[in-house]
Amino acid sequence: LGSAVTALEQLTRVVSDFPSAGVVFRDITPVLADPGGLMAVTQALSVAVTQPFDLVAGLDARGFLLGAAVAVHTGCGVLAIRKAGKLAGAVIGKDYSLEYGTGRLELHPDDVPAGARVLVVDDVLATGGTAAAACSLLIQAGARIAGVAVVMELVDLGGRARVEAATDAPVVAICAL
Ligand code: PRP
Repeated sequence: LGSAVTALEQLTRVVSDFPSAGVVFRDITPVLADPGGLMAVTQALSVAVTQPFDLVAGLDARGFLLGAAVAVHTGCGVLAIRKAGKLAGAVIGKDYSLEYGTGRLELHPDDVPAGARVLVVDDVLATGGTAAAACSLLIQAGARIAGVAVVMELVDLGGRARVEAATDAPVVAICAL
């Protein structure tokens, strides 16, 4: 955990007014581009939740990078929970709101084995709309949520409560701002 926090502190790029005025965007792409940073963050996310899991779900789009890395690292498969209109098969979907807009997430329920224990992985927990919608979709598809693991939690935006309203599973952040 220490090396992940150090990599995040040293390499995260802070961009003001992105993607819209007033939003302070914390860009972790430099952390992921660094081999040590990627490994440290992947390891930290992989052990963030103590509950066992047998499948990882990555949230569109930066959560795909992290989710796939965690899945390989832990010997699991990975699900893509995608923004509307991107998945080819039969989907279930859920509308959500977030810090700078609204959206809709979709999932292939046929890719979720009945009762699968799923670790939800994303880069940032902000208002929690994205992660809460993802948990709701997974539960609707017959999965159980093992936990939600994110790189960064923006505490002032209160997302944790919103996710905890969608699932009883633990919500863990590598670093909180
Ligand atoms: C960002 C981030 C999280 C979400 C967090 O994704 O990657 O998924 O917002 O916000 P919330 O807690 O308020 O829902 P974004 O929708 O910008 O998509 P991207 O990864 O494709 O840039």
